[in-house]
Amino acid sequence: MELLGVVATALWAMLPAYVPNNVAVVAGGGRPIDGGRTMGGSRLLGDGKTWRGTAAGTAAGTALALALTALTPAASDIVGHTLPTFPVLGGLGLALGAMLGDIGASFVKRRSGRERGAAFPGLDQLDFVVGALLCALVLAPSWALQTFTLPVVIAVVVITPLLHLVTNGIAYLLGLKNEPW
Ligand code: CTP
Ligand code: MG
Repeated sequence: MELLGVVATALWAMLPAYVPNNVAVVAGGGRPIDGGRTMGGSRLLGDGKTWRGTAAGTAAGTALALALTALTPAASDIVGHTLPTFPVLGGLGLALGAMLGDIGASFVKRRSGRERGAAFPGLDQLDFVVGALLCALVLAPSWALQTFTLPVVIAVVVITPLLHLVTNGIAYLLGLKNEPW
């Protein structure tokens, strides 16, 4: 597969994982997942990880995957490359996994003494990628292995941090996020 095809596949296949955390920023709030519980003097996760944000993000990412599947033939024509479709469990795996990766990162941040909203360079940009790929692998193994080939995974790992910085910077400038990461 040539470079353009790899990059197009990487972006297309990861869209259901890119959207959930941004939807959570807009739709989040309410009861925190950890219910206020602490561990070693710090919150388990913190007020930034809520049931509503997690549910809304997961639902949005899964719905997007279904919509993308309907658009795959047209999009493939436009980029001149056969893009992947998403089985329901593949889309759900990417969306839920993205949320779980971000939640896992909050757990790590709290254990390392970082307050809610503190930056953790590297982890902030890739937590949801690792979560999404692992969860897709568990829920839709054959689809995940066929879609996320080594070149595609490399493209995802290179492109995602850049996209993440840009979209979070925009959300910050729009006043949707308190910090630009
Ligand atoms: N959010 C949510 N539920 C999630 C993830 C995010 O409700 N599972 C919402 C919260 O309102 C959160 C905002 O989106 O404050 C921004 O998300 P994020 O930057 O991931 O959280 P932080 O507040 O920075 O908290 P943390 O330091 O734990 O990442
Ligand atoms: Mg944050």
